[in-house]
Amino acid sequence: MSFTLLINIKKLLQVRDSNVQYVSGKDMGIIPSINNAYLLLENSFIKEFGEMENCPKKLDNFKVIDCNGQMVLPSWCDSHTHIVYSGNRSKEFIDRIKGLSYTEIANNGGGILNSVEILRNTSKKDLLEQSLERVHNVIKQGTGAIEIKSGYGLNIDSEKKMLEVISEINKSTEIIVKSTFLGAHAFPKEFSKNKHQYVDLIINNMLPEFHKLQLINYVDVFCEKGYFDLSQSEKIISKAQELGIQTKIHVNQFNSIGGIKLAVKYNALSVDHLEVLNDKDLEILKNSSTMPVALPTCSYFLGINYTPARKIIDSGLPLAIASDYNPGSSPSGNMNFVVSTACIKMKMTTEEAINAATINGAYSMGISDKAGSITIGKIANLIITDKLNSIDEIPYSFGCDKISKVILAGAIV
Ligand code: NIG
Ligand code: FE
Repeated sequence: MSFTLLINIKKLLQVRDSNVQYVSGKDMGIIPSINNAYLLLENSFIKEFGEMENCPKKLDNFKVIDCNGQMVLPSWCDSHTHIVYSGNRSKEFIDRIKGLSYTEIANNGGGILNSVEILRNTSKKDLLEQSLERVHNVIKQGTGAIEIKSGYGLNIDSEKKMLEVISEINKSTEIIVKSTFLGAHAFPKEFSKNKHQYVDLIINNMLPEFHKLQLINYVDVFCEKGYFDLSQSEKIISKAQELGIQTKIHVNQFNSIGGIKLAVKYNALSVDHLEVLNDKDLEILKNSSTMPVALPTCSYFLGINYTPARKIIDSGLPLAIASDYNPGSSPSGNMNFVVSTACIKMKMTTEEAINAATINGAYSMGISDKAGSITIGKIANLIITDKLNSIDEIPYSFGCDKISKVILAGAIV
């Protein structure tokens, strides 16, 4: 048994009961906290917390961390990433600076298919090495839980290679990992003339096999003009449902084509992107348990619309934010910058952005029973900040992570 006691915490943020799975609307504006607090960890878990005056006596086997002037909050839960990829797409970045759009680059054979070509020619070992380096970086930046998608293989062998790398990351690190199968990320070149055959391959071969091998927690589809249309998306989602796998879906990035209605019909866990969102879409989300997820750094990097966060939250809905870390539209997984961008560009308050990046992020990846808040029994994945006067200094200091230490599963990283 090992105990770690954090004392003199200036503010212990995001203290919640275990029955809170996510927060919506006005409640997103509140971060329940304790001033001048202690937090006791037992092995990997949160054991108890409270005001310093009730702090338990330090015993010999306690490791003590004095947080004088520092705040403590749960680690970021990044519920949408493509962090497993090979190489990069910096050339396309320059093409975009010179005036081409993301869609034009994709139509010229670049984009996702460019990353597919590179990944297919990368060994599993090399892919793991490149991806782990990024994972270790985001851990240092305070991410304690991460969802990782496949989707740069687009054939059985290479999708499997990606999923095995995700599983390896899960085994070899302390970060919480959820794996999502995104075989429907784009149509691979070899199926460009018979797209329905690729959908059949996903439904009849990939999905059942990867499910049987226990490589996937969720299924995703890029439901968008030029990618997977409504009927192709529905075939995949309904097959997933048949296998008992919930969906997290890329929708409404460039066009609103009915993907939200479809997602809610199948009780999707999350609908992600939503840069283009109409009132009908919003109404559909209201009577659902599907979490809207915004990806502000994708909008930042591509120079496209930001998800209308104010409209979503002010209509009483919940909202999560995630990094979308990927080589094409968001080559950064820094959740501190995601939180800043959510405040600066989407007009979210600090409290809303922290809720969106912790408890609501946890819900969007199906782990709000074990992460996303300071709650007895949850995994001790924590951020100890620098000395701060106010939590607003977290988003305010954009580009500078106000992090002094990171704790994963009860241990300092
Ligand atoms: O979420 N939109 C689809 N997928 C990714 C981009 C992937 C890529 O460009 O490689 C996204 O933005
Ligand atoms: Fe994405």
